[in-house]
Amino acid sequence: MITKQKGTYDISGDDAKKREYVNEIIRGICEKYNYNYIETPVFEASELFHRSVGETSDVVKKETYDFLDRGERNLTLRPEGTAGVARWFIENKLYGNMTEPVKVFYNEKMYRYERPQSGRNREFTQFGVEFIGSDDVMADVDVISLAYQTYSLLGLDTVIKINSLGDTESRDNYRKALVDYLAPHIDELCEDCKERLNKNPLRVLDCKIDGDSDIIASAPKTTQYLNQESLDRYNKLKDYLDLLEIPYEEDDRLVRGLDYYNHIVFEIYADIPNVGHLALGGGGRYNGLIKKLDGPDMPAVGFAMGYDRTMLAIEEAGNNIPIKKDIDAYVMYVSDSEKETAAFITQNLRLNGFTTETDYLNKGLKGEFKSADRFNAKYLVILNDEDLAKNEVNVKDNVTKEEEKVNINDLIDYLDMHD
Ligand code: HAM
Repeated sequence: MITKQKGTYDISGDDAKKREYVNEIIRGICEKYNYNYIETPVFEASELFHRSVGETSDVVKKETYDFLDRGERNLTLRPEGTAGVARWFIENKLYGNMTEPVKVFYNEKMYRYERPQSGRNREFTQFGVEFIGSDDVMADVDVISLAYQTYSLLGLDTVIKINSLGDTESRDNYRKALVDYLAPHIDELCEDCKERLNKNPLRVLDCKIDGDSDIIASAPKTTQYLNQESLDRYNKLKDYLDLLEIPYEEDDRLVRGLDYYNHIVFEIYADIPNVGHLALGGGGRYNGLIKKLDGPDMPAVGFAMGYDRTMLAIEEAGNNIPIKKDIDAYVMYVSDSEKETAAFITQNLRLNGFTTETDYLNKGLKGEFKSADRFNAKYLVILNDEDLAKNEVNVKDNVTKEEEKVNINDLIDYLDMHD
């Protein structure tokens, strides 16, 4: 038997319906915030992710699905959505005649070769937004507000952790201070962090092994190294969040796992029973990325949330997702002679907005009654030759059990009236 691959999963039945519900919430909120839907390819040139997410990030070093295609191209299954959107923006020269910022959202499969565990998979879905073309703090707030409100609509209590990495100058100063501080402790760091110290010292702060050590607890804070402009920007963000009543906590060790961030970074956490304190999503400003990918100097900010973790949080919090489990009508026929009319009426009901099912297995009336109950059909539309000769069908309300003969031409109006 061929089974699914480690870290992948099928979604079907009620789980699929729940996802559809969450997708609708996402679509609805993106529409209100005026983000347009975008799809980018599942695979891209490997170089795109190396240059954007960063050669030394865990994602690129350990987690990407890289392969050579039959034309010997180096390709990678996308581990995240930002790089693809940036590539799309540059490739289509959307900066050429930009009168408004570009605001897009995606809701797609991503791939990371990680150790699968609760809420962490190798194939997973991310809902994300990218806001390109504004350097104003109001754009950061737009993204954070959208993220927060999405979780609120899903009934989740979240807290947003925020930090600022500052502009290039602030970040460089901080990096230097951090290396100076960590260098004497190098022997106490894990093997990965020893390497990170030279290549990407900020990453030491969120190392899964060293992250909770006393050394890191006493390390210099990013916010101590912000220049005035960066600090003003960070303070402005907090003013906006207060104004919009979006709860946040400052976390001066929050640096994020991808290399492209500067200024504001944030992560959204929920306390999930049986699982703990879990990051449901994260994002931040990435002003240098588009230029790094050979585009113009273009400010941008974005966010992505993991679907799996969000669904897990909803389940564990005991939140009820309404899922439609019933149908409007079940069309039944007694014998073969009524089948064509059954097919016609079924299509007609569907085209008029009724969720309708019929019998494809020639079960006979008894079996059809059972099916109608299984589907929770509100109405049974029962066809027999005698009624059809008078252009009528028998409509039974499956709840009140009342029955009535209805002219076929009046069927839609009849059901509309009783609905
Ligand atoms: P990220 O923090 O790497 O950011 O991923 C965002 C979210 O995706 C995480 O908070 C988590 O919920 C989910 N996630 C990540 N890896 C997995 C996994 N293996 N299984 C299940 N869920 C996972 C980004 O990807 C950035 N592109 C976000 C962004 C958009 N920044 C700016 N714009």
